[in-house]
Amino acid sequence: MKHSTPPIASIADIARHEDREIRIAGWLYNLRSKGKIHFLQLRDGTGRIQAVAVAGECDPASFETIGTLKMEASVVVSGQVRRDERAPSGYELSVTGLAVIQNPEEDFPIAKKEHGIDFLLEKRHLWLRSSQPGALLKVRHAAIFSLRSFFNERGFILIDTPILTGSIGESAGTLFEVPYFDMGNAYLAQTGQLYLEAACVAFGKVFNFGPTFRAEKSKTRRHLTEFWMLEAEVAYLDNAGNLQLQEDMICALARDILSRCAEELKILGRDVEKLEKISPPFPRIDYGEAVKWLQQQGRAIEWGSDLGAEDETLLSNRYEKPVFVVNYPKKAKAFYMKENPEDPQTVLCADLLAPEGYGEIIGGSQREDDHDKLLARIHEEKLPEQAYTWYLELRRFGSVPHSGFGIGLERTVTWLCGTRHIREAIPFPRTISRLYP
Ligand code: 4AD
Ligand code: MG
Repeated sequence: MKHSTPPIASIADIARHEDREIRIAGWLYNLRSKGKIHFLQLRDGTGRIQAVAVAGECDPASFETIGTLKMEASVVVSGQVRRDERAPSGYELSVTGLAVIQNPEEDFPIAKKEHGIDFLLEKRHLWLRSSQPGALLKVRHAAIFSLRSFFNERGFILIDTPILTGSIGESAGTLFEVPYFDMGNAYLAQTGQLYLEAACVAFGKVFNFGPTFRAEKSKTRRHLTEFWMLEAEVAYLDNAGNLQLQEDMICALARDILSRCAEELKILGRDVEKLEKISPPFPRIDYGEAVKWLQQQGRAIEWGSDLGAEDETLLSNRYEKPVFVVNYPKKAKAFYMKENPEDPQTVLCADLLAPEGYGEIIGGSQREDDHDKLLARIHEEKLPEQAYTWYLELRRFGSVPHSGFGIGLERTVTWLCGTRHIREAIPFPRTISRLYP
């Protein structure tokens, strides 16, 4: 007779343990009892499985304990892995014993019943355990993996750009300021782009991936104050090449998510046919034409202003694929974008709008590589010139045409998952009204 403790197995690879004695270290998320049988729903982070404890087959003390367990009790359950066609995972555990690590004294705040979103966000630290938020965050993980792989496979060098910065990257209106010793205030990075521009001259093709901060006063379903952005920057790349790179990246991402996250997309109820349509080429529409079309739809937009969320939704609903809106007016965009030689009122840039009304997921442009034009734009925007001395110097030593873009991770994940609101696409969302938990 053997007395060794059985090994701990992950639910995700339970199939490898068929007919063997194992232990599962996890949590109880549901319990049903019928006389001499307990049905325990267990999860261990890697998956979910039903464990069945039958009086007479299970150790008697353990059997009794199971009846006292509260939801989310942490338990280590021993048992035999049995194949079961009816089980969602294909397997069941026949319980022989159970050790309680901690049994809550009260009911778990998140029950099966419907809770309001405010309550769930207040309990985000516990809500993470539920299957829907779990699936979303696994898609996020897969998206990060896919994006990183895309750039690694193409020879891009990862350059980590600073979070504390002295120069305004995007717009003065949405800066978080931090007291910085005797140098006055630093800003939390809105973008790492300016630093990537320095790095692309050193390494050719570079990217970063990190948190960015915007003191956005807007309370929309597309805005966070802290979000993650992947940015790429390439020397000797023009605007057309920049769009091509983005198109390749988004198509690879959609393919990867479809193939690696089938289970998660199912839990989320995502219509995968919509994602299957994401293939090249993406439509490209000129900003001026977009405005004309929007005006015909009765929108109040005037040539010169950035597109609003409603405008983006209307535009993107015309297509089943993401759409590039190109060549925005200079005054609607950041100072660093390159003037369009064919129409100096506009710049060589593009926003990529996701389908189904998810709005802008990528902002990108060719950069102004002419020293004097760039300096003039810095003056026009009333930016402090001395903070950009280093940036201007890049245009004095081997300046080349170069382009890049930034993809907002949470907006992209929200779209891929077909979720309404961006705040569920990040583990602990930060918005104008939320800093807890
Ligand atoms: O269009 P944005 O502002 O572009 C830049 O920051 C450039 N410097 C990028 C570059 O060219 N290297 O932001 C890029 C993307 C947006 O398309 C959007 O997906 C996301 O970042 N984003 C936000 N996501 C969540 N909450 C916010 N408040 C966001 N602001 C921008
Ligand atoms: Mg933008």
